[in-house]
Amino acid sequence: MFKGRKTEMVLLVILQLIVAATAANVTYDHRALVIDGKRKILISGSIHYPRSTPEMWPELIQKSKDGGLDVIETYVFWSGHEPEKTKYNFEGRYDLVKFVKLVAKAGLYVHLRIGPYVCAEWNYGGFPVWLHFVPGIKFRTDNEPFKEEMQKFTTKIVDLMKQEKLYASQGGPIILSQIENEYGNIDSAYGAAAKSYIKWSASMALSLDTGVPWNMCQQADAPEPMINTCNGFYCDQFTPNSKNKPKMWTENWSGWFLGFGDPSPYRPVEDLAFAVARFYQRGGTFQNYYMYHGGTNFDRTSGGPLISTSYDYDAPIDEYGLVRQPKWGHLRELHKAIKLCEDALIATDPTITSLGSDLEAAVYKTESGSCAAFLANIGTKSDATVTFNGKSYTLPAWSVSILPDCKNVAFNTAKINSATESTTFAHQALKPDGGSSAEFGSQWSYIKEPIGISKSDAFLKPGLLEQLDTTADKSDYLWYSLSMDIKGDETFLDEGSKAVLHIESLGQVVYAFINGKLAGSGNGKHKISLDIPINLVPGKNTIDLLSVTVGLANYGAFFDLVGAGITGPVTLKSSKSGSSIDLSSQKWTYQVGLKGEDTGLATGDSSEWVSKSPLPTKQPLIWYKTTFDSPSGSEPVAIDFTGTGKGIAWVNGQSIGRYWPTSIARNDGCVDSCDYRGAYRANKCLKNCGKPSQTLYHVPRSWLKPSGNTLVLLEEMGGDPTQISFATKQTGQSLCLTVSQAHLPPVDTWTSDSKISNRTKTYPVLSLRCPVSSQVISSIKFASFGTPKGSCGSFSKGRCSSSRSLSIVRKACVGLRSCNVEVSTRVFGDPCRGVVKSLAVEASCS
Ligand code: GAL
Repeated sequence: MFKGRKTEMVLLVILQLIVAATAANVTYDHRALVIDGKRKILISGSIHYPRSTPEMWPELIQKSKDGGLDVIETYVFWSGHEPEKTKYNFEGRYDLVKFVKLVAKAGLYVHLRIGPYVCAEWNYGGFPVWLHFVPGIKFRTDNEPFKEEMQKFTTKIVDLMKQEKLYASQGGPIILSQIENEYGNIDSAYGAAAKSYIKWSASMALSLDTGVPWNMCQQADAPEPMINTCNGFYCDQFTPNSKNKPKMWTENWSGWFLGFGDPSPYRPVEDLAFAVARFYQRGGTFQNYYMYHGGTNFDRTSGGPLISTSYDYDAPIDEYGLVRQPKWGHLRELHKAIKLCEDALIATDPTITSLGSDLEAAVYKTESGSCAAFLANIGTKSDATVTFNGKSYTLPAWSVSILPDCKNVAFNTAKINSATESTTFAHQALKPDGGSSAEFGSQWSYIKEPIGISKSDAFLKPGLLEQLDTTADKSDYLWYSLSMDIKGDETFLDEGSKAVLHIESLGQVVYAFINGKLAGSGNGKHKISLDIPINLVPGKNTIDLLSVTVGLANYGAFFDLVGAGITGPVTLKSSKSGSSIDLSSQKWTYQVGLKGEDTGLATGDSSEWVSKSPLPTKQPLIWYKTTFDSPSGSEPVAIDFTGTGKGIAWVNGQSIGRYWPTSIARNDGCVDSCDYRGAYRANKCLKNCGKPSQTLYHVPRSWLKPSGNTLVLLEEMGGDPTQISFATKQTGQSLCLTVSQAHLPPVDTWTSDSKISNRTKTYPVLSLRCPVSSQVISSIKFASFGTPKGSCGSFSKGRCSSSRSLSIVRKACVGLRSCNVEVSTRVFGDPCRGVVKSLAVEASCS
């Protein structure tokens, strides 16, 4: 017994020693985060764990590491972890501990942004909706009930992390935590209480004693010792609020989010790389891509209102977990170039000088002789040649060159050496379970959702109710129902003229049913105003209005109070006489949610499914079900909902989110090609105008079995589910790249003059690599060294082209997963002297 105790004690001491040995001391000074006494240049990327699956996490983290990240940044999603007060959930996609441990296993750090307000285009900004009903609560201000809940949740998370020894101070990966989020953007609306709230937030966070620093983003008055950090498309001009704090950038928006009804935003990588390089040029030492992988808003997690289910964000890793090229590859090269400068960057502050109008040099020179320089051309129009330390350098417009030894350029943000990889979706029919060759439509069954009130918990209330207060967001759906008696002589029955039902709603979708038939519908973000001509009959008439939310607001002062639903007025007008009656204050019957939601139709298990043909289509409010085989292969899977209207879908009981392929992107602001030069804005580079905002919806592979999968849809608008198909995301059909003689050699081959006295000339290289390890380069569709024209898919030879181009590239590449071809006249000969030549290649993998 005693001996056992002794061994236990010894083991405990050894364990403590191990922890002490691996524990890191994280502090900061005016230059950088300091880990174990050493300043660090850190490159970070956001991955929000519930926006992918635990099965996807290891690969996403590995691809982040391969892309050159040191840190993974994530918010903590309160609404997911405490869906009901004190009922916690840390399972599945919400297994935060597992996620953090996986990041640690890959050897990366974590920045844990607890918030607990997170914004993030997440439903209600991350707040659980029960919070709204806490008596006396006022969100995000000096309010006791709010502070109590915020402290409880923050403590819960910190305790959990401590218990699992996940703070760096305990040997774990978390080097930094965030409290609140961008409160400084809106705090003026909260008056004097904002100041005391922020002070309280800071001291509450500090009292939790994590052993690592805390930050507040966009909070110029962040109290000591909270690090105030920057968010935005550019943060090179940012300075923290104290000389003792490092310059850190917590959100560099790698693209932008998509909304239903919006065109798709994208951000050119030349501009993103420029923004990053400018930040490190001007003294930054920590930068985070928001997002590095955006992922998917499964379930009803998307905020907004009207945020789409896809949260792809044009991030370096796409929604499906595939690297997006050339974005991922170009940034990877940039990260390598920055890391070549690390010793000089952490040693000193930059000396910034002008090299001419819109031309700027920053030099980091240490006493021990290391030197790194960044040369920038901030001009948006013309390339420039500058003289720096007696040498001449060409700087394309809106670009930064990185010189890790103050002499030789390792990287320029505008010169892309990474190939563009086309990705396409291969469509295949939703193969009915068991491979039956029967007509696909016959494989569907359905259940009609009753129009109007059908549940026993419906209730009567005078007046029109706000939706969030009424549903507590338990469902997107709220029925407002009224039955009225129309006498035979009433003006609303005037022959030849219809009555007009006028409805006003705070959003986001309204369907009006008159006597059980859909009479009209409309949608809007915060305001819907409808005038629907209707036919009434003498005697009893029913008006059933279905109001549908599409994500609760997540941003802005008092966003929690914006409200939704049919708050009125609702009036009935005679189009002939003009007289009207206001129905707003009548006694309405309310039903929260749909019957099928309560009876659990989402799982597909009910015995009520009807498989009789014909399948009713193009009618509102029908639940559909089918079973199917998983698409073959291992490529990511999406369901193409073209043909359906709007609703929610489940695969094997897992909600894949809201689908809405009939929401069409505004025909406004799209550009054929977007010039990366000049300041980026969220609406600068848009595509997909006039087309559905989102037709493809991600179904994680791990949710699928080889056969016997169930797909259930709640189609609210009316559509034809038999048109639904699978789309698997294919990569590698075409790799395209143009590398000019004026491009730089790969960063990996960069060597400093000081290290090699006889620097051998290195040449640019065109590198190709098939994205999937089982693929090899199967053909070279185009290759020309000379003055090639066009772009991927439409390359053509220019006036000058080496006749050996194709055979050289073929020989170097075909049959291999990856290949490198030097771009020089040494290899291709010189087809036109005195001209700067390029090598353009289009290849395909299979
Ligand atoms: C920021 C916010 C993020 C996210 C982003 C836009 O203001 O902090 O959570 O909402 O905007 O994607």
